[in-house]
Amino acid sequence: MDPKITRRQFSAGLGAAIALVCLGCERQPEGDAKTTSTGKRRTRSNLAKEPFLAGPLAQYQPPGVYEQFWQDKDVYLVSNGQKLIAIASVCTHLGCTPYWHADEARFVCPCHKSLFDPQGIVQPDMKAKRSLDRCAIALVTLPGGAGKVIQVDPTRLFRENGPDGTGWDSPDASLAFPNA
Ligand code: FES
Repeated sequence: MDPKITRRQFSAGLGAAIALVCLGCERQPEGDAKTTSTGKRRTRSNLAKEPFLAGPLAQYQPPGVYEQFWQDKDVYLVSNGQKLIAIASVCTHLGCTPYWHADEARFVCPCHKSLFDPQGIVQPDMKAKRSLDRCAIALVTLPGGAGKVIQVDPTRLFRENGPDGTGWDSPDASLAFPNA
């Protein structure tokens, strides 16, 4: 998949590529909720409603949970060194926004304490009964031969055991690192 992108998406992607890479820059929850970039505390998820660019693939190869898109998009990028996934930070119980707890290496939902491992897999005996969905993720070509960057599409979600074409095993649900 190698769709063309718009000039607006290109600008957003460049901004994202410059602004970030804060692997390990944990934002501590205040009480049971994190603070948005506008200073408001929230628990309700607000998953982005349009695709966004996330910069070059290679920068995400070191394994970890990349949080830079959580505040504004409600998406975490997660690398295991072999492939990259984009987790939708929308609890499958009642839709609150789980946050990444680096010291516990898991996602925690602030509403009813459902826990998810770094791949978004729900832990046993939680209010949430389904793992976190994953957003479509692909490489797109920048205008003018400027290379390829990641595009995350939160409007297309994949479930852990979704039927054909809608499950985590769909080719659009992850990106493999070429040298892995
Ligand atoms: S909304 Fe997440 S556990 Fe209830």
